[in-house]
Amino acid sequence: NMAKREKWQSRIGLILATAGNAVGLGNILRFPSKAALYGGGAFMLPYFIAFLLMGLPLMIIEWVIGRYAGKHGHGSMTGILGLFFNHSSWARILGSIGVAIPVLICMYYIYIESWTLGFAFMSLFKQMPVPIKTANPQEAVKPYVEFFRTYTNPSMIAYIFLLITIAINWFILQKGVAKGIEITAKIGMPAIIIFGILLGIISLSARDWAGLEGLKFIYNLNFSGIKDPTVWIEASGQIFFTLSLGMGAIAVYASYVKPKEDVVKAGFWTAGINEFVEVIIGASIAIPAAFAMFSAVAIPELAKEGTFRLGFMTMPAVLMNLPLGWIASFIWFLLLFLAALTSSLALIQPIIALFEDEMKWEHTKAVSVSMILVITGAHFSAFMPNFIDELDFWAGCVMLLIFGLIEIIVFIWIFGINNFYNELIQNTSIKLPRAFVYVIAFISPVFLSFILYFWVIKDFGNLITAGESTKIIARLFILAFLAFLSFIAVKSRKIILRDLRYTK
Ligand code: PHE
Ligand code: NA
Repeated sequence: NMAKREKWQSRIGLILATAGNAVGLGNILRFPSKAALYGGGAFMLPYFIAFLLMGLPLMIIEWVIGRYAGKHGHGSMTGILGLFFNHSSWARILGSIGVAIPVLICMYYIYIESWTLGFAFMSLFKQMPVPIKTANPQEAVKPYVEFFRTYTNPSMIAYIFLLITIAINWFILQKGVAKGIEITAKIGMPAIIIFGILLGIISLSARDWAGLEGLKFIYNLNFSGIKDPTVWIEASGQIFFTLSLGMGAIAVYASYVKPKEDVVKAGFWTAGINEFVEVIIGASIAIPAAFAMFSAVAIPELAKEGTFRLGFMTMPAVLMNLPLGWIASFIWFLLLFLAALTSSLALIQPIIALFEDEMKWEHTKAVSVSMILVITGAHFSAFMPNFIDELDFWAGCVMLLIFGLIEIIVFIWIFGINNFYNELIQNTSIKLPRAFVYVIAFISPVFLSFILYFWVIKDFGNLITAGESTKIIARLFILAFLAFLSFIAVKSRKIILRDLRYTK
């Protein structure tokens, strides 16, 4: 009685779809901003360590577990955690944190995505501010700062582009995994790589290759951040965010593979493509462009002025000053939009899978209800101050680190190191040694716990006590959403148990 689940059409399609899942605003916008904010090379050292000790292992875990869960008819974390604990209510409730995280992220992500579409159109139709001829960089960015403020106020045009962006996501998701997501990624991913390389060259070469200083800033690896828990938590958070880990967003894609798919290989491809688009392409655009325009000392200062400064104000100021600047600006925002689109689809698919696999809703109903939830949250992002930052911090950093830890404990310890290893080596041409699983089982969780522990000691008190009322509303929103998904998790349990009885 198990409803037939969708499958990816081809090997290349599934690699591109998951690469599209991982490659997003995180690579091209969030990564440079965080790197600039936390000292370039000082940020990169924890970043690389977090990639090796947590990013890569969890990427493999989510692929292996996703394939395993898909064979049993589950794709969402609610169903997957249930699978490991006899479909008990508490396991399903715990798993629903893993569904809440991507949807909460999507509620602000899709709004930012809509800015990129809006700015792409305005570049194309020459509606961006005309650059002023001045040697003073602060003066040069001013019109773009003003423009961004007016646009995100939000203006009517911003709201219209939000609706358009939502409609595009809805349309693609309604088409389904193979005919919607896979086809979008097949077109989007190659375009992202080509536009990315092009803009990297433009940014690095700006003002007689002054942009190269920006690359040096990022790659001047140093130990100055090593004692600061905030740098570690932000670097680890970025690794999870950029690789789409700690929330089941990779596992849900992996649940749609054919049972014999080589998921280890797919995992390495996903991580490899994402890191290429982050530390090579992502590192070569926004920061080098900013370096070309401003002096090096100004960069951390600029980053403090907000995550969107680099991408939506500095970049257009640099690009619009070039010959045919409107085309360069158009390509920049189109690149951001394509990267964001293939990721927002992945942020919504987990809850669609929840409704389809657990509630046994038909596709159209599952997509519609999911989209209505996203639309509701997107309105908060558009109209309530602080909502974006608060959600990005809790769902886009803290919650996914905690859920990542839960994933390791359940999928390695509870499932058992041997069971996991046997599942891992099935149908793969890459022979990972058993020691790899021991690293995942012991080093990754210890490392993750240390980071969370020191960060709680340092920052947690301030974070939950200090807060304007808008921040408190955002936190209550998160709790209410968790409560709603817990309700679904318990309600759908009966359906799953009934189906199990039938198949027996
Ligand atoms: N990894 C995406 C990015 O870098 C964000 C994302 C997170 C997408 C989780 C899907 C799931 O932008
Ligand atoms: Na990414």
